Amino acid sequence: SPLGSIFQISEDKIRSSPWRDILEELRKITSQYNISIYAIGGFVRDLLLGQSNFDLDIVVEGDIQLIISKIMDKWEGKVITHPQFGTSEIILSDGKRIDIATARIEHYEEPGSLPKVERSSLWLDLKRRDFTINALAMSLNEENFGEIIDLYGGLEDLTRKELRILHNLSFVEDPTRILRGIRLEARLGFTFEEKTFKLLKEAIENGFLNKIAKERLKDEIILILQESQPEKVLKRLEELNALSYIFPIRKLPKNFEKKNQILKNEYPQKYELQILNIISEATLDEGKKWLQDLKFPQKIAYQFILLKHYQNISTLSEKDIINLSDLPDDFLLLLSLNSKKTGKDILRIRLLKEKGVPYLKGKDLLNMGFKGKIIGELLKQLFLKHYYGEVKTREEEEKFIKEIINSNLK
Ligand code: CTP
Repeated sequence: SPLGSIFQISEDKIRSSPWRDILEELRKITSQYNISIYAIGGFVRDLLLGQSNFDLDIVVEGDIQLIISKIMDKWEGKVITHPQFGTSEIILSDGKRIDIATARIEHYEEPGSLPKVERSSLWLDLKRRDFTINALAMSLNEENFGEIIDLYGGLEDLTRKELRILHNLSFVEDPTRILRGIRLEARLGFTFEEKTFKLLKEAIENGFLNKIAKERLKDEIILILQESQPEKVLKRLEELNALSYIFPIRKLPKNFEKKNQILKNEYPQKYELQILNIISEATLDEGKKWLQDLKFPQKIAYQFILLKHYQNISTLSEKDIINLSDLPDDFLLLLSLNSKKTGKDILRIRLLKEKGVPYLKGKDLLNMGFKGKIIGELLKQLFLKHYYGEVKTREEEEKFIKEIINSNLK
């Protein structure tokens, strides 16, 4: 058969998937209406590997609206439609996403013996994909539910744990696939098939990563940082001499891995911290330009400038301490990790802020009879007192303030 041998996914894999009920619902729809539904891409890959995936991509021959209303009858969520692409997304309240695309059967002259999938745009869809393991489809139709459609040998590559492109020009046509491949390699623990690896290295050497549009590059960078082990991906990029095409650096900073893990563990949502950590040893000008080119928020560029400033100073002045006490705790952690001489002092500032120091707030000082600018001044003084260990408790703060009042009365 042009589809190769028929492979059926095990009942077990479907039963233990968090998508079970939705897959069953889709199956039911295909049995009741004239609709065919196929799951495709990363979803099928992950289902076969027994890994979870929050996105279900389906291709539908038939009425998309019917599917949407059936799903929305049973699950909570919202629908976004993109009529210009013939696609819709359902975002379920538990975070799962269903991406729905229409497949038109292509009605050109073809030998009638070809199976339906060969004539449909499902085939075209799979043909355009990056790696064979991402080019699998799975039928959700009643008559062959769970049957895998494997036009490129993806099943075999899944068992060999190999990443293989579908054709020689794949990386050249779409250089983001270089980054996607390296990401998948790290995430799945797969290796590149020999020829694919050769083509990947050639594409890097020939500068194809430069052809990625800035906006897409930024998206890809964020995807890397959202992986569970971004450090692994970044080290691999360094090893393949690919870092400088992506970041304003050639090598990762010293102790990068350890620092990045600390940042990621404490602030998993803040990819900006990882960005600053990666580029911490770029020059001020190159770092600034890169952040601007990729249109990162102004706030990150500002923090980069601060980072470069504090990175190399050997002691903190009183003014530094006050300035640092105004910065967010996540950034202070980053700064402490990247400041050789003053790291401990910066951590101390972070710790004091965490405690809510000074304990007296502006409101308290107002109640004590202070007005206007002086309140801000006093709060700064209180912070410094804590920093130098001259004041430790709220009572001691009050005592210090009273002394000031008394000395002014005299
Ligand atoms: N794809 C591709 N080339 C790209 C981007 C995507 O061929 N440059 C294909 C891949 O086959 C992929 C599918 O589009 O499986 C969907 O892309 P995406 O959702 O980004 O990836 P997933 O494989 O689902 O991976 P992830 O688990 O990272 O979401």
